Amino acid sequence: MPTPSTAFPPGFLWGAATSAYQVEGSPLADGAGVSNWHRFAHTPGRVRDGDTGDVACDHYRRMPEDVALMRSLGLNAYRFSVAWSRLLPEGRSRVNPAGLGFYERLVDALLAAGIQPMLTLHHWDLPAALDDRGGWLNPDSPHWFADYAQLLFRSLGDRVKLWTTLNEPWVIVDGGFLHGTLAPGHRSAWEAPRAAHHLLLAHGRAVQAFRAEALPADRQIGLVVNIEPKYAASDRAEDRRARERAEAYMNRQFLDPVLLGRRPAELAEVYGDGWFHASAEDLALMHTPIDWVGINYYTRSITAHDPAAWPLRAAGVRQPQATHTETGWEVCPAAFTDTLRWVRDRYGAIPQYVTENGAAFYDPPVAGIEGIDDPLRIDYLRGHLGAVADALRAGVDLRGYFAWSLLDNLEWAHGFSKRFGLVHVNFANGQRTPKASARWYADLVARHGAGL
Ligand code: BGC
Repeated sequence: MPTPSTAFPPGFLWGAATSAYQVEGSPLADGAGVSNWHRFAHTPGRVRDGDTGDVACDHYRRMPEDVALMRSLGLNAYRFSVAWSRLLPEGRSRVNPAGLGFYERLVDALLAAGIQPMLTLHHWDLPAALDDRGGWLNPDSPHWFADYAQLLFRSLGDRVKLWTTLNEPWVIVDGGFLHGTLAPGHRSAWEAPRAAHHLLLAHGRAVQAFRAEALPADRQIGLVVNIEPKYAASDRAEDRRARERAEAYMNRQFLDPVLLGRRPAELAEVYGDGWFHASAEDLALMHTPIDWVGINYYTRSITAHDPAAWPLRAAGVRQPQATHTETGWEVCPAAFTDTLRWVRDRYGAIPQYVTENGAAFYDPPVAGIEGIDDPLRIDYLRGHLGAVADALRAGVDLRGYFAWSLLDNLEWAHGFSKRFGLVHVNFANGQRTPKASARWYADLVARHGAGL
């Protein structure tokens, strides 16, 4: 039989991703400070069923077991985030060496296992002490972030090659400041563009701090955004206009300033009176060159004009004939290829990583002796990795793929009710069981993607 060919280049990273608050547990261990997510989750009514990250996957204590698990699946990369409040309990100044020690041990264990770490500096959990000062609304927040980033560059820059400033700043803005569904839970069209502005400046300042370090030449830094391609629900002018607004708000709000040095004009319509002028100096800082861009893709959106949808006046139209995941997201692999091509066409030849892609489907809380059979997740992964292969064949410069997620974990305001893991977690005792999808992915990784 001829060997099936692979679209995946040599050196392609095959990984899985997690984030600190979603998996670690022990949020206050070894001198860590309180984070905004710890506080949010402990506020009644904020997270489904009152779930919190107090234990989560207990990864903080089971880290060696989890690294061994990744190795047994043959992964050659792992994307994780650092909990800012473990390193700097008050968010600034005083360093907690024990918090740093956890990430040093994690990175060392990964490297010893032949797994390349990709470190995210900020995946939504902000020290509560900084939140008390306004968090991302405070004009000093970009400096706080750059100082925190510098501490990590100096501590782990000798070992970590791939760095990410922010994970999905759009979600922080939309969930945290516009609609209030995520920490810190505000609802304001005045605050949202200001938080976005400071996040963009924080990103730029951290990249500049990175360049200022005498790190080995192969160290690289990028930004991770979530892209949900928008398609107009009809040819009507108001739907086409709604599509433009939705695309500007979700997909271009961060990438345009970072990669093109300008802000989408449509944001003025979205934020109305909340919109404000940005100086040329600020735009230049946001536009500091980065080495790669990370794309998180889950679904697409068919977008229609909707006057009731505040403040965007645009909303997704559910496609009844399509398959949807447990989070209600339409499964559409072709739109993933469109997304990766769109990033290349709009922003040029910057290298891309798929930093998250995956699906929540129902799995039972306890794995039986026969394990967990998750054919829907396998279908999702097969379709979406096929879409990645199509993008590679179309010439997109893609360097790696990270499945979301390594483990079932705390799905933010959904608590533990949505399972995205390749590996099942029994939240009553922490037991890990690789699902059928983990074995499917491991086989694909062993073949370097051949046959897709
Ligand atoms: C986030 C993850 C989250 C996943 C699924 C992304 O928005 O980066 O933290 O769990 O999507 O919702």
